[in-house]
Amino acid sequence: MATATATVTLSITLSAMLLAMASLSSEVVKPVLAEQLPVFEAGDISTKRISVDTSPKPLFIISPTVEGNYPVFLFFPGTCSSNSAYSRLFNHIASHGYIVVAPQLYTCPDIIPTTSENDELNHAAETANWLLSGLDAALPDNVKGNLQQLAVSGHSRGGKAAFALALGYSNVPLQVPISILVGVDPVAGWSKGCRCNPKILTYVPNSFNLSIPVTVIGSGLGDQKFFNIIHPCAPSGVNHKEFYSESKPPIGYFVATEYGHMDILDDHERIFNFCNGNNHRDPLRRTVGGIIVAFLNGYFRFETKDYLTIANDPTVAPVDLNPGFFINETQESLVKLGDSYSFKFDLFCILDWVPGCHSNIVYM
Ligand SMILES: *[C@@H]1O[C@H](CO)[C@@H](O)[C@H](O)[C@H]1NC(C)=O
Ligand SMILES: *[C@@H]1O[C@H](CO)[C@@H](O)[C@H](O)[C@H]1NC(C)=O
Repeated sequence: MATATATVTLSITLSAMLLAMASLSSEVVKPVLAEQLPVFEAGDISTKRISVDTSPKPLFIISPTVEGNYPVFLFFPGTCSSNSAYSRLFNHIASHGYIVVAPQLYTCPDIIPTTSENDELNHAAETANWLLSGLDAALPDNVKGNLQQLAVSGHSRGGKAAFALALGYSNVPLQVPISILVGVDPVAGWSKGCRCNPKILTYVPNSFNLSIPVTVIGSGLGDQKFFNIIHPCAPSGVNHKEFYSESKPPIGYFVATEYGHMDILDDHERIFNFCNGNNHRDPLRRTVGGIIVAFLNGYFRFETKDYLTIANDPTVAPVDLNPGFFINETQESLVKLGDSYSFKFDLFCILDWVPGCHSNIVYM
């Protein structure tokens, strides 16, 4: 644990430096397109933040306030991030007519998770099951959640939890079917040789036993080491590329090349700050929010045009995406991305810090 403390201290120092550097850096802004897709802008439905503490785990909800029966977007935060730390992204999605529900599945004193990923997964399943009986009472008058249309998603460690839940790894049986899955820079551990349980990655293309549509959105800078010292936040071999590769069509895959792993959070959320890029976060949040809204609209409202437009021409997005595509049919072969991982000898694995993946700070 002494090393963990040292890492925390180092991270905080480096974070402070990065913060200082960020204010000096130049901004990369794409030229404004004449016709911006509406999914990249806030929707016109007014929303409300709601906190719930009667559920198995505390919930942060952003719900439309306009009467209606809306699909539900269940989102698991990344390692030690607060469920309210993504409020700008959530508001973007909710303003297009979706109920966003984010549980706090574990706590994190001193930036160290108290809960293993197996337990996190069971809490995720309990939370999803609770929605069946508990959600509507928590929502504004005349607003209801349609759990026949449930999207499950998450960022980082939470993105992996979303996949693990959809793949049936929780010991608590899921009582509500998952309709679609979205991974936001999902991460499954430190490296291929040093993963968190449950080990869902197989390193065999198309091996996820899923029959639901999937979208994977990655960060281009997530695999970068800061000053060549600190372990990347979304390391190659356990990151978005592998989650894409192991998914089956229908699969959409988008990577925001100029952004880091933590840039999807609200502006003032600066945990693991060394995992950021240097660009303003708002265009990234609108890009990720827009891709998610287009994907949900495609499968829940049968409005596929925007999703296909983004997949066919990713330059319509507010930030650079590469790659960016959608493969709909099983017959189409997946786009090959080359060797997406390397085996890495990891001291932390040998030191037995990894089992349970809750005794160190670096699992995201
Ligand atoms: C895939 O999942 C289905 C249930 O969703 C199950 O019936 C089937 O046995 C699984 N296939 C494999 C190869 O595990
Ligand atoms: C993919 O193909 C199916 C079957 O043709 C269709 O129903 C679905 O809308 C397509 N998905 C998208 C996003 O176009």
